[in-house]
Amino acid sequence: MVELIDSHAHLDFDKFNKDRDEVIERAKNNGIVKIINVGSDLSSSHRSLQLSQKYEMIYAVVGVHPHEAKHLDKDALKVLKDLSKADKVIGIGEIGLDFHYDNSPRDIQREAFRKQLRLAKEVNLPVVVHSREADEDTIKILKEEKMNNHNVLLHSYTGGKELAEKASEMGFYFGAGGIVTFNSASELKKIIQKIPLTRILIETDSPYLAPEPHRGKRNEPLYVKEVAKFVASLKNTNLESVAEITKENTELFFNI
Ligand code: NI
Repeated sequence: MVELIDSHAHLDFDKFNKDRDEVIERAKNNGIVKIINVGSDLSSSHRSLQLSQKYEMIYAVVGVHPHEAKHLDKDALKVLKDLSKADKVIGIGEIGLDFHYDNSPRDIQREAFRKQLRLAKEVNLPVVVHSREADEDTIKILKEEKMNNHNVLLHSYTGGKELAEKASEMGFYFGAGGIVTFNSASELKKIIQKIPLTRILIETDSPYLAPEPHRGKRNEPLYVKEVAKFVASLKNTNLESVAEITKENTELFFNI
């Protein structure tokens, strides 16, 4: 069976309260060998860690999402630092900038992003970045914080061509998720075609952004296979090689 990793999921969210075990079992029985569960605030970071302790195949990433940036005070940063040292916590994220929703003021988002990048360097863990409609600021901050020698993943990539080029120069990785399968994403498809497969991780971002043919439904790690199939078609290759290469990329990136 083809083995795949879902490099970004939120299985701790309420949407999985009724059938979390079945969702994980279903993924496991269909070749999904590892799932990275990503925090979006302190409590979901705690829950991610708990999931990683309960299920052997799950790993945790801890961090405060730009939506929640206003809650990242000194105490919260200390809690994150403690969490980051736990067994099976393999990264800091998701952190970054979201200028689409602007749920936290932009200056506060920038500050929270910088603080968590510094934490990632301090504890020597890779970074999972969320960037939406903030291409220029994202790359500027990553440059200023000297993240070029660090493992940085631009998850569920939706940025433009220019950010993709600059991020490639800095040696960053790109997360391909459900959006690349959407008919409307023609620009993104071109960008993904240009990025070498050795720089791509695949993900679901469950419960959001279900890939075709499940678009509009709740997403789950099993559907990472649809993303992989689609990336294979974009790259004129087969599912087996996409699975093999992206699995290896993910394991190297997170050191798992
Ligand atoms: Ni996410």
